Amino acid sequence: MSEKNPKLRGALDGIPTYKPGRPAAAGGRAAYKLSSNENPYPPLPGVLESAVGAAGTFNRYPDMACSALVAELAERFGVPAEHLATGTGSVGVAQQLIQATAGPGDEVVYAWRSFEAYPIITRISGARPVEVPLTSGEVHDLDAMADAVTERTRLVFVCNPNNPTSTVVRRAELERFLDRVPSDVLVVLDEAYREFIRDEQVPDGIELYRDRPNVCVLRTFSKAYGLAGLRVGFAVAHEPVAAALRKTAVPFGVSRIAQDAAVASLRSEDALLERVESLVAERTRVRDALIAQGWTVPESQANFVWLRLGERTLDFAAACEEAGVMVRPFAGEGVRVTIGEDAGNDLFLGAAEAFRKEL
Ligand SMILES: Cc1ncc(COP(=O)(O)O)c(C=O)c1O
Repeated sequence: MSEKNPKLRGALDGIPTYKPGRPAAAGGRAAYKLSSNENPYPPLPGVLESAVGAAGTFNRYPDMACSALVAELAERFGVPAEHLATGTGSVGVAQQLIQATAGPGDEVVYAWRSFEAYPIITRISGARPVEVPLTSGEVHDLDAMADAVTERTRLVFVCNPNNPTSTVVRRAELERFLDRVPSDVLVVLDEAYREFIRDEQVPDGIELYRDRPNVCVLRTFSKAYGLAGLRVGFAVAHEPVAAALRKTAVPFGVSRIAQDAAVASLRSEDALLERVESLVAERTRVRDALIAQGWTVPESQANFVWLRLGERTLDFAAACEEAGVMVRPFAGEGVRVTIGEDAGNDLFLGAAEAFRKEL
């Protein structure tokens, strides 16, 4: 018998494992998880009932084409059903997009820091990540990103709003950027936090994709719609990109429970978006309070805020944890804090104020 390990692809060497936000500490004391950009509200009654109803059929495979959900999305966004592709969360769809476009020798361009899955899924496919630093205002540097596109570039991510800095790119600069990128390079507008945007100058990617065959929009049910645990996201893209997504999908990846809950969420959109409105109001309250405490906080168009803390990042996160709040630190850079329940936000603000006084 051989003692050797199975041969794994060299591309996997050194790829970090995706780091989820830490859960709230167990125990008697109030503890809030503000580390994963989740929606703090429990499922709406109609959505929950529909998911529970679907659970009664889980001895069967789900509809692989997600037909009911696709039909609902096509109607909701005014796009042809053939332009829609669903997947196991929008991160699953993002990975399929890279699988469909880039392999060894190819390049994937994105801003940095941005969503931490981008380097992981790029390197898994064997492609080379090209990371373009954010501006000093924590915003995508779209001119530098367009400059970074070469004949090896296959895909560019634009995360709008950007995770973790919460900043946005606006219509004029985004259109100028899209005009510069060659039409054979796929531009993925990752709009996971779209529903939280209140800046009217930020374009809806679904409007931009219509006459641009190399633009693909990613959306998710995990954030505003509150279905993070069910794993369902989707892309809007022209053929043949949407067709490539259907080829690269894990068969039956989106469960019937997820499909039915997503349809019910779209039908309960008014109630869901009311909750989003409260989170947007809380976002303003939290940011204003932080600024009053003396912090610099980029204007947020998402359900989180960003504090650039440099070397103090881990100490700050530890102080929040001590106060009963989990936040998401990026060592040496800063802390991302999700807007959660009012009480959790208050605990966080208390911890931030105490930390500030000790500086
Ligand atoms: C920018 C961005 N895109 C995509 C995702 C993936 O979300 P999901 O896979 O739950 O749809 C996230 C999640 O944090 C995100 O922040």
